[in-house]
Amino acid sequence: MTTILHLDASVRGERSLSRQLSGHFVDTWREERPRDALIQRDIGRNPPAHVSETWIAAVFTPEDQLTAAQKKLLIPSDTYIAELAKADVIVLGTPMYNYGMPSALKAWVDNVVRVDKTFSFDLGRGDFPLEPIMTGKILVMLTTHGEFGFEPGGISERRNHLVPHLRTVMHYLGVAEDHHIGIEYQEFGGERHEASIAKAMTEAAALAKRLAARA
Ligand SMILES: Cc1cc2nc3c(=O)[nH]c(=O)nc-3n(C[C@H](O)[C@H](O)[C@H](O)COP(=O)(O)O)c2cc1C
Repeated sequence: MTTILHLDASVRGERSLSRQLSGHFVDTWREERPRDALIQRDIGRNPPAHVSETWIAAVFTPEDQLTAAQKKLLIPSDTYIAELAKADVIVLGTPMYNYGMPSALKAWVDNVVRVDKTFSFDLGRGDFPLEPIMTGKILVMLTTHGEFGFEPGGISERRNHLVPHLRTVMHYLGVAEDHHIGIEYQEFGGERHEASIAKAMTEAAALAKRLAARA
């Protein structure tokens, strides 16, 4: 059995294109493999708290010395990491906000990239002391953009701090393979936007079928 972790980061509800795209991917997968497990975590509607100095102190406290207050503070982080640990496939629907990820998604990342839980730190490794603890996960990034041209070689490639950033941090969460499909032109509307939606929906369903067949 494969476990899918379905994350959505848009602050919008039904109107959200990234939610429609990630929902389409997950629905297609479940038609192919109805018995697979699905965990849903709505980051956009229920944003994780930003990390704080007391949070950092708690994560660097040995587990057997944690106070009751520290244990309570770490419950959301522990919950997100437990969900992540179960996941074979991470399906992430997210908009681009100000050329990067929404702050709620960044807060989720800060809560899950945690020493001795998702990554290990060893200065014996030289200049690259961090290594992921989890391995072999597949990440499917389903993004939405008001503008366009963020793909490699596109006119806005240099302003794309969403997909490259996600690739960098998701490596430390055990992602070994990633895929990206995006909807563009949302702020322009019109035919280019409609064509972009149709193409992304078709590609998302095809990718879901291809990955489900391999699972
Ligand atoms: C706060 C905010 C910031 C945005 N910043 C960008 C941006 O930097 N680049 C871009 O192409 N679109 C930007 N957009 C447009 C969104 O990416 C676009 O509306 C997208 O469809 C939103 O995703 P959703 O439909 O899943 O809610 C921004 C939208 C909002 C609300």
